[in-house]
Amino acid sequence: MSIRRLPEHLVNRIAAGEVVERPASALKELVENALDAGATRIAVTLAAGGTERIEVADDGCGMTPADMALALERHATSKLPDEAIEAVATLGFRGEALPSIASVARLTVESRVRGADGWRRVVDNGMLAGEGLAALPPGTRIVVDGLFARVPARRKFLRSARSEYAACLDVVRRLAMARPDVAFAVEHDGRRTLSVSAEEGRPARVAALTDRALADNAVPIDWDREGIVLGGIAGLPTFNRGVADHQYLFVNGRPVRDRLLIGAIRGAYAEMIPRDRHAVVALFLDLPPSEVDVNVHPAKTEVRFRDPALIRGLIVSGLRRALDEAGHRVVQRPAVDLSALFHPEPIAEPAPPAFAFERAAGSVADRRPTFLTPPPGARAEPAWAPPPEPVAHPLGVARGQVAKTYIVAEAEDGLVLVDQHAAHERLVLERMRRALAGGRVASQALLIPEVVELDEPACDRLEARVEELGEFGLVLERFGAGAMLVRATPALLGQADPAGLVVDLADELAAFDQTLSLRERLDHVAATMACHGSVRAGRILAPAEMNALLREMEATPHSGQCNHGRPTWVKLAMADVERLFARR
Ligand SMILES: Nc1ncnc2c1ncn2[C@@H]1O[C@H](COP(=O)(O)OP(=O)(O)O)[C@@H](O)[C@H]1O
Ligand SMILES: [Mg+2]
Repeated sequence: MSIRRLPEHLVNRIAAGEVVERPASALKELVENALDAGATRIAVTLAAGGTERIEVADDGCGMTPADMALALERHATSKLPDEAIEAVATLGFRGEALPSIASVARLTVESRVRGADGWRRVVDNGMLAGEGLAALPPGTRIVVDGLFARVPARRKFLRSARSEYAACLDVVRRLAMARPDVAFAVEHDGRRTLSVSAEEGRPARVAALTDRALADNAVPIDWDREGIVLGGIAGLPTFNRGVADHQYLFVNGRPVRDRLLIGAIRGAYAEMIPRDRHAVVALFLDLPPSEVDVNVHPAKTEVRFRDPALIRGLIVSGLRRALDEAGHRVVQRPAVDLSALFHPEPIAEPAPPAFAFERAAGSVADRRPTFLTPPPGARAEPAWAPPPEPVAHPLGVARGQVAKTYIVAEAEDGLVLVDQHAAHERLVLERMRRALAGGRVASQALLIPEVVELDEPACDRLEARVEELGEFGLVLERFGAGAMLVRATPALLGQADPAGLVVDLADELAAFDQTLSLRERLDHVAATMACHGSVRAGRILAPAEMNALLREMEATPHSGQCNHGRPTWVKLAMADVERLFARR
């Protein structure tokens, strides 16, 4: 075997494997180049999620014809004038994006520097296909046609135009968040889908690009230590989401997905949000270039910190401090009426009417399963109320609540602890199973249909599943490009919070494989739904509510495990309690 140097177009194609994975990665390189060129306006135009065409036009410095020819060569860059890679302040520096893209698509570059004529160069899958004068305003316009059209092995890994579009939008969103001083616009298949002007400051820009409700449900972060600055906004713990996609992280103005940072966020919010939920944050970390290496990943989305422990500590304390100052503020969403949560499905006989608990909560004796609905004002039993007699329920009688998360119950033979959230999720899953086995889950129409605003890809995903969601009792309709209309929610959830539910289901759809049906994902869908019509950890329960939960658990198969296989309750035998006190 003899060694030979690979021809340039093959080298580029190999590099393209790392840099250009899908339309969104090509788009990212092009928008970064426009930012590096000092653009103040960037217009992105996509066709079929970028799989057919990606166009990026900017009003930046432009390139001369000679520079343009060079730019299309591998490792040609204008961005490392003094070869100091450690001090790089631009988004690009590797000089491989343009030649890589040009090796796997038809690339048209048009550019004009102020006071000169414009020039065009076309490279088709690695081969120069033409050049000449071009008429355009000062700046650069780059078009990528038919990405991977001649590389079938790569083309077949592209997902639907809808998913590719969602990834493209995510790229622009993150870069637009990093640079509120630049105006951005996105057009997809002939429709304007994103537009932000340069007048907004950072918090307004973040809110405009994510969830408008975030502005009311977040605290500003502003913290520095040893020349390292942490800024941005942090969502309140109660404004959490089911997936981590809503965490936007930037290091020295560069969007990153960094495990250390994600872990630090998790640490900062630990104990404030449930383990399976995620905070919403936009964090901007600025530090001296000597403290961070940005050249560890071809797509430049990962970084390496010189002192990871310092960074982690800074983020945890910065976030904690900001959240502490926010103190008791809670999420601005309609509260769920607890009394509606425990559904009067026929279960075991209601508890005997002799309970002090239920007496405290209202007229038990004459309102059979409606003992589940305490009258307004009825709250937890006063601490001095006479303790009720234990009865022969396997899970016992509720005696109180610990950490707003666990129910403590007394059974004849021991002490029972119940994880209220896990238990309720399980009950909802079992109810859904039963209802789905018999066809579909009953819906409860909303008096006033609720409009839920979401981004367009999220609406597309939900719309594609409208029929399936209907089987689960959730009746949705598309309501314009960026909203869904909720007409009915699953009756077995009681008064669910429709907006929160729809937002989480959209996240859920984004996270799982498109080929699975919702029924195949029953556990997840039910868990997501249960979260929104259920007793969450952290909610204070009235004694009647606790007892209703215990009784329903006794009557429900498989209620001893939560949907993730963890126990929903544990029992400490009375004999063991006695042993603890050396009574035996
Ligand atoms: N939109 C643009 N405006 C001006 N110059 C550009 C633009 N896009 C690319 N260039 C030039 O082409 C060079 C090569 O770009 P690229 O392959 O992305 O490598 P890098 O960004 O790492 O330098 C850049 O260094 C820059 O000089
Ligand atoms: Mg670049």
